[in-house]
Amino acid sequence: MKSIPLLPTVIVTFCAAALLAPAASAVAQGKLYTVVDGYKVDAKTMAGFRTWRQAACDRCHGANQEGLVGPSLIESLKTLSKEEFVKVVRDGRLDKGMQSFGSNPVVMENMDNLYAYLKGRSDGAITRARVEELK
Ligand code: HEC
Repeated sequence: MKSIPLLPTVIVTFCAAALLAPAASAVAQGKLYTVVDGYKVDAKTMAGFRTWRQAACDRCHGANQEGLVGPSLIESLKTLSKEEFVKVVRDGRLDKGMQSFGSNPVVMENMDNLYAYLKGRSDGAITRARVEELK
């Protein structure tokens, strides 16, 4: 009989531990990106976001990648392969208004990071366009 009051204590302790566990959703597939709480990202994904801002892709694709004169990259990256992404960003589609970034060293050096950031947005894992670096 004396041991019964112990049980609730055990349950409460267990639940508290579960609540304190970090809400990390590091994505499968060789970890293209890591995001916590929807906006705290690893250094490479952060570099991708900075590249996005620096190259001013938002001018045509919208601040939240929702599309403007250019299509929504949230939608595009659900079907576009990485190879197609790299090709269109490098070579552009000049006749259709997408400029070429092949001579932009920041974009070319950060192509993987840019892709990781945009893919995270498209996957719905990065829930806020303006990300912060995971400490
Ligand atoms: C001057 C406007 C403009 C800028 C700046 C721009 N884009 Fe685009 N982008 C477009 C347009 C317009 C299209 C659609 C081309 C077409 O119809 O095929 C496009 C297409 C794309 C596509 C292919 C989408 C698909 O569904 O096939 C990707 C990926 C893309 N842009 C990424 C980027 C990235 C990344 C940047 C910044 C480094 C960028 N764009 C900057 C206008 C722009």
